Amino acid sequence: MYQWSVVPLCLLLIGSSVGQYEPTWESVDSRPLPEWFDQAKFGIFIHWGVFSVPSYGSEWFWWYWQGRKFPSYVNFMEQNYPPDFSYENFASQFRAEFFDPKEWVDIFASSGAKYIVLTTKHHEGFTLWGSKYSWMWNAVDVGPKRDLVDEIATALRAHSDLRLGLYHSLFEWFNPLFKADADKSFKTNVFPTTKTLPELYEIVNQYKPELLWSDGDGDAPDSYWNSTGFLAWLYNESPVRDTVVTNDRWGYGTICNHGGYYTCTDRYNPGHLLKHKWESCMSMDKKSWGYRREAKFSDYLTIEQLIASLVETVSCGGNLLLNVGPTHDGRIMPIFEERLRQMGQWLKVNGEAIYNSSAWRVQNDTVTPGVWYTANQKNAIYAIFLSWPDNGYIVLSDPVVSSSKTQVMYTVDIEKESKCNN
Ligand SMILES: *[C@@H]1O[C@H](CO)[C@@H](O)[C@H](O)[C@H]1NC(C)=O
Ligand SMILES: *[C@@H]1O[C@H](CO)[C@@H](O)[C@H](O)[C@H]1NC(C)=O
Ligand SMILES: *[C@@H]1O[C@H](CO)[C@@H](O)[C@H](O)[C@H]1NC(C)=O
Repeated sequence: MYQWSVVPLCLLLIGSSVGQYEPTWESVDSRPLPEWFDQAKFGIFIHWGVFSVPSYGSEWFWWYWQGRKFPSYVNFMEQNYPPDFSYENFASQFRAEFFDPKEWVDIFASSGAKYIVLTTKHHEGFTLWGSKYSWMWNAVDVGPKRDLVDEIATALRAHSDLRLGLYHSLFEWFNPLFKADADKSFKTNVFPTTKTLPELYEIVNQYKPELLWSDGDGDAPDSYWNSTGFLAWLYNESPVRDTVVTNDRWGYGTICNHGGYYTCTDRYNPGHLLKHKWESCMSMDKKSWGYRREAKFSDYLTIEQLIASLVETVSCGGNLLLNVGPTHDGRIMPIFEERLRQMGQWLKVNGEAIYNSSAWRVQNDTVTPGVWYTANQKNAIYAIFLSWPDNGYIVLSDPVVSSSKTQVMYTVDIEKESKCNN
């Protein structure tokens, strides 16, 4: 009797978990976001590619030089390179000779981040892995002659509990197949079916990322990219279907509207609570995501500014994705390393108010400026003040206290903790 009642139940459970999501926004949007993402709060973005070789201006170097023909980029090339030097020529100088993935992972882990997001392919089209679909324009055939995605993924899994996220650009500025489709108003889809989608399946199957950070729709609709078809596969059948998280950049008009969590705009900081899970991506260098040699000291955000961004973001229900740009030879510059380690020092003391927290009833104090709140499951409310009060005391106007039950605890400075009753 007992066995007979168990068997059909198992079949039922298996039957209902396969092919659950349909290739429509309504269906893929209904998938609950895997919990780990909201708990993580803080990740590191890494912009690395052929643009790291000129390391001038921005990771949009190629487009600004030969697409937009901005004078500063045109002059930079005229003054420093022979007249027939092409962007493709930079790739052989992308050597990554000092690249030590274990050292990168140590730095990332020291920051207190819980995930990373690596640019596997930016709009230039160069893949950091040995893609079958990017002949002679990938890091195994040209430049480092190493599978950089594989090396980072392997080191991350061997030496840390950080999760792997992969950034991937749908479109490519100068790919003739994309241009041909665009010229036909995206009525043909040769580029997505022979390039973008095969690459996406390839990186998911090979590297099993738990976060897929899509970007660069090239103003083409999601139907051109077959985004809902791909996402239905990702959520139903892919090897990461249970834990993978994605963002919202899957075609013209999907941003802040469809997909997994919302990114809305770069450096997004709404200042109020959003109902939908979101992430603020921002870079330590205020002007560029890729490394640029001409950056001034004042172009880098201070640790105080970075902590303020993290606190404001988390209080409003978001995650912070903080970007660093490694050099073409594979180094993370000391200024980036220092900032990351400083984030980790702060999180070591204050992480209880950040990780696994949720937004509270009020996000920032209604009277006292610069005080941000978070809450946790154990009925604790955290008030984080971003500057030290001049007169030595601070007024919190939003928490409602009861003299018999409320306990006030405070953490000051590094490694000093005190406790008192209100
Ligand atoms: C879109 O993706 C789905 C799922 O992978 C696939 O079955 C379908 O053939 C794709 N459609 C096009 C037009 O490529
Ligand atoms: C957050 O919660 C998860 C799941 O309960 C747990 O595994 C993880 O250790 C927690 N993280 C921190 C930093 O407390
Ligand atoms: C709370 O934050 C919002 C958004 O940044 C801001 O407009 C408001 O002035 C802040 N409140 C106080 C009291 O500083």
